[in-house]
Amino acid sequence: MRTRLLMSDQTLFRSIDVFEIDYAPEFFNYRESQLKDLAYQIRPALEGGRALSAICRGLPGTGKTTSVLRIFAELEQTTKKILPVYVNCQNDRTKYMVFSRIYAAIVGHAPARTGISIRSVMDAIGGALQRQEKSLIVCLDDANLLHYNNTLGDVVNSLLRLHQDYPGARAAVFATVSDMNLDLASDLSKWVLSPFRPSDIYFPPYDADEIRGILQDRIRIGLYPGVFSVQMLDRIVEQTMESGDVRVGLDLVKRAVLNAECAARTEVIEEDITKAYEQAKHIHLACTIRALSTDERLLLQRIAELSQEQSGPLVSGAIYGRVEETPKVGYTVFSRQLRKLDSLRLVDLIRVQAGGRTSEVALRYEPEKVVQICGKRGIAEE
Ligand SMILES: Nc1ncnc2c1ncn2[C@@H]1O[C@H](COP(=O)(O)OP(=O)(O)O)[C@@H](O)[C@H]1O
Ligand SMILES: [Mg+2]
Repeated sequence: MRTRLLMSDQTLFRSIDVFEIDYAPEFFNYRESQLKDLAYQIRPALEGGRALSAICRGLPGTGKTTSVLRIFAELEQTTKKILPVYVNCQNDRTKYMVFSRIYAAIVGHAPARTGISIRSVMDAIGGALQRQEKSLIVCLDDANLLHYNNTLGDVVNSLLRLHQDYPGARAAVFATVSDMNLDLASDLSKWVLSPFRPSDIYFPPYDADEIRGILQDRIRIGLYPGVFSVQMLDRIVEQTMESGDVRVGLDLVKRAVLNAECAARTEVIEEDITKAYEQAKHIHLACTIRALSTDERLLLQRIAELSQEQSGPLVSGAIYGRVEETPKVGYTVFSRQLRKLDSLRLVDLIRVQAGGRTSEVALRYEPEKVVQICGKRGIAEE
């Protein structure tokens, strides 16, 4: 058979967008109760008051972001009383950036780059809320990232106390958090004693049937009939369950189909999936590592090197002793960095003793691969 590099005349995708990360799904099942809880938090704002705050908690890929965005989209279409603002804390990591985002949503453009203090940004926000008589709801998506930076308390506090400086301005916070060990409410209590009493809305991991249901919906919309057999879907469901993250499944389906296209086949076979898995594993790792700060990356690298050197389990205290950094970070910062690596699923932290400070640290990827990616120079520019 003649091999062709580009086969523009033959695609197995009806619509490849369906598998992109930011695609808003037509069908969104299994989250009715969480959507209902969110709607309940919003009701006071529809009646002219301020919304109640909420923390959406669940592992990555459990539908937190999608749920909030769906509710926000509905608000935008149905009411002028509420101004929903979505902030992705992966991009906006400082107080100034968060408030610039809110400013942009209200004013229509970002604050001029230079010379505008955070005070005047807040003035503009508070003033506009007073004039427009709108109730603000800010979603801090992946709020744990602000927490690791020590800015979450400050941000939440400033939002919930807006009305003190701007009477009549009303704001609430929906935070999403994927770090299950993080006790936000108690960590925030020093900042925001009375105003922040969020409801906890829990997003459990999807089970195998739910993952299959979600992937099946996408396959039906995104691919031509007959491309993805039930048996092949079962293989993907199995592999998705290992990570528990639906995103992994969506990405695997897309890659497997691209592989089949490349091989000029019209149906995905086992080999396409195996290859997709190998490709996806390291891309996911590289993307996650790229999002780390330099210190966090050094720590991860150290953990990988130590896992190569020794065969028994690694304990946190031993890692702390071996981190070569000048100046050396304190143990609290170190623990926080470890928790971040855990929440990003780069390592597993296993508490050895209830209430104790020592944990076992297990790397979730091959140490060689981690060292290689961490050590790559210019990783940030890639
Ligand atoms: N119940 C669901 N139905 C359809 N797609 C879903 C569902 N839950 C999650 N997804 C999809 O899985 C991916 C991850 O969901 P997301 O809301 O970003 O999770 P989280 O914010 O909890 O990490 C997104 O592409 C989303 O469209
Ligand atoms: Mg999310």
